[in-house]
Amino acid sequence: MKHNISIAIDGPAASGKSTTAREVARRLGYIYIDTGAMYRAITRAALDAGVDMNDADALERVARSSKITLEIKEGQQHTFLNGRDVSGEIRTPEIDRNITPVATHPGVRRIMVEQQRQLAQNGGVVMDGRDIGTVVLPEAELKIFMEASIEARARRRLKEQANGDPSITLENIKADLARRDHADSTRADGPLKKAPDAVVIDTSNMSIEEQVETIVQLARERQQ
Ligand code: DC
Repeated sequence: MKHNISIAIDGPAASGKSTTAREVARRLGYIYIDTGAMYRAITRAALDAGVDMNDADALERVARSSKITLEIKEGQQHTFLNGRDVSGEIRTPEIDRNITPVATHPGVRRIMVEQQRQLAQNGGVVMDGRDIGTVVLPEAELKIFMEASIEARARRRLKEQANGDPSITLENIKADLARRDHADSTRADGPLKKAPDAVVIDTSNMSIEEQVETIVQLARERQQ
C-alpha cells in the first residue's frame, strides 16, 4: 500500500527548488511548504515594524507575534502575513538584502522550525528550504539536495524579478546570491548543508519538467 511520505528539498537560493517542489506536491496530492517564504514574511514584518535588524530580541518578538499562512490559489502560491497577502512584497531586492540577519538569528529559527514541523506532522508534504533534511525533518523518507551553477541561478532570478527594472542586473543578482550562499552555508544554526542521505540533483542544465519527474519517480519508489 502507498503511504504518505515527507519530502525534504534543500539547496541554495534560486536553485529551482520552489517551482519544482510545488509541482511535485501537486502531482502527488501533497501539501507544499515553502519555508523561504516564511523567513521572507518575517523579514517583511520586521521591516514594517521598523525593527533594528541587529536587535535579536525584537526580531524574535516579531517572529512570535506574526501569523504566516501559505495557500495555493489557482496554481499560484500565496503567502499571508497576519491575514494580508504579501506574496509580491516578499520577493524584492529589499527583502533579499535584509533577510540574512533574520534567518541567522537562532531565536527566529527556533520559532520557524517549530511551525514547520507542525505543518508536516501528518506527512504527505513537500517542504523546501536550507535545513529541512538536516534539522526540520531529519526523518523525511526522501531528501533532495538541489544544486546549480551561480550563473544559471542568477539568470533564473533575473527572469523572476526584473520586470523591466533597469536597476536589477545579472551582476547585482550574482553578487547577492554569492553573499547569501556564503551567509546561508556558514551560519552556526541550521546552515545550508546536504544531509548525508540526500540525493543530489544538479539542475544547471535540467528543465523544470525533468526535475519534477526525477523527484516524483524517487517519491513513488519510497511510497511503497
Ligand atoms: O528559498 P528562498 O531564497 O526564498 O529563501 C530566502 C532566505 O531565507 C534565504 O536567503 C535563506 C533563508 N532560509 C533559511 O534560512 N532557511 C530555510 N529553511 C529557508 C530559507
